[in-house]
Amino acid sequence: MSKLIVKGRQRLEGVIPVQGAKNSALPILTAALISKGKSVIHNCPSLTDTQAAVSILEHLGCSVVQLGHTVIIDSTCADGCEIPDDLMREMRSSIVFLGAVVARCGRAELSFPGGCELGPRPIDLHLQALRQLGLTIEEEHGHLLCHTDSPLKGCEISLPIPSVGATENIMLAACTAEGRTEIHNAAREPEISDLADFLNGCGAHIHGAGESSIIIEGVKALHGAEHTVIPDRIAASTYLSAAAVTGSDITVTNIIPAHLRPVLPCFAEAGCGIEVSGRSIRLTSPKRLGRIKSVRTMFYPGFPTDSQPTTMAMAATARGTSVFVETIFESRFNHAAELIRMGAKIKVEGKVAVVEGVKSLSGAAVEAGDLRGGAALVVAALAAEGETVISGVHHIDRGYEKIESALSSIGADIERTEDAQEE
Ligand code: EPZ
Repeated sequence: MSKLIVKGRQRLEGVIPVQGAKNSALPILTAALISKGKSVIHNCPSLTDTQAAVSILEHLGCSVVQLGHTVIIDSTCADGCEIPDDLMREMRSSIVFLGAVVARCGRAELSFPGGCELGPRPIDLHLQALRQLGLTIEEEHGHLLCHTDSPLKGCEISLPIPSVGATENIMLAACTAEGRTEIHNAAREPEISDLADFLNGCGAHIHGAGESSIIIEGVKALHGAEHTVIPDRIAASTYLSAAAVTGSDITVTNIIPAHLRPVLPCFAEAGCGIEVSGRSIRLTSPKRLGRIKSVRTMFYPGFPTDSQPTTMAMAATARGTSVFVETIFESRFNHAAELIRMGAKIKVEGKVAVVEGVKSLSGAAVEAGDLRGGAALVVAALAAEGETVISGVHHIDRGYEKIESALSSIGADIERTEDAQEE
């Protein structure tokens, strides 16, 4: 098992290029299954979740070649329509394979997906929407047996909440359905627009992605395409948090600054200087951050739930009290207990966490329980006095490409060790 050893209180300085977006790359790799041909996807981050998607594609009969951050998928001969339980459990976003496999084969057999421990993560909206498109779904012993005797038929789908995964699943299933599908109250995240751009490059007719209503005119078939995944706005905000808590001066590059608009006001409120220029953001931070009065997570373009934990790590050593309200997931404060081990003063009650900033945190042995919570521990460790040992690093590896290399390249004292005894 890997551990990260962080010696805190180093000032960070320099430029950090940001990886491609995990939450774009995964549905785009999945979408490559639908076309009958070769797709070339650039800027794919090297992550364990990407490997999980590649394993599923190979299991379904695609040939996949990985050249650095480019993944080439040939789906010409893919005829599989069953995904075994062990592959489905490796990540939450395996569920979007449902829409893609059905679009490709007219049937699918898979089990419920895995993913982070953020409380219950139902897939009822995905299933309800696919049923509206004409898919018969039987749920048996944790398995989903799906089939359709005739092609899926476009229809109007109104989502009760703008679920990212459900919007993606509908887009994947509907692009080769008969007729027109309208998704109302669709998710508006940049990753949805990126998926639509890739599918349109493959010959799909999708309009309105990034807005609340998406219209998909079904086409007979898709072909392969070349596409570059958008930058990872959550990884970028994590690195900005790392600079903010260490009184540092860094520039994140290869980003789309507009995608970070929902988080930038928090950095400014905490007293950081922000300079946006082209595809970069430079952040300079004061010796001690000020409080962030209140952070309420919302669907895009609101404050992203995925940046809540790393922002809480900032608030832990800020001057004053910050309040966090988590409205997206039921249980996304697991990192609070670990931050408390490091000396943070946090009170959690249901969906609200009150963080009373302390002068300094102290290094401790802590455990990442989920991806972004793990990133929050890294951020806190960079600010803490002494040494922090972070276990549960496999969670962090799901979403950050070599986090220790990225951070040490700008001056952090962080290294990875392997503990053979715990393997
Ligand atoms: C995506 O998850 C992201 N994952 C998550 O990123 C992100 O936190 C989340 O969107 C919200 O932004 C990927 O893109 C792979 P949702 P997803 O469906 O699609 C409820 C990270 O750290 N819901 O928008 O699973 C659900 O329980 C990860 O990178 C239902 O009730 O999120 C949640 O409360 C973690 N029924 C809310 O909707 C459903 O059928 C939003 O979930 C589906 C969702």
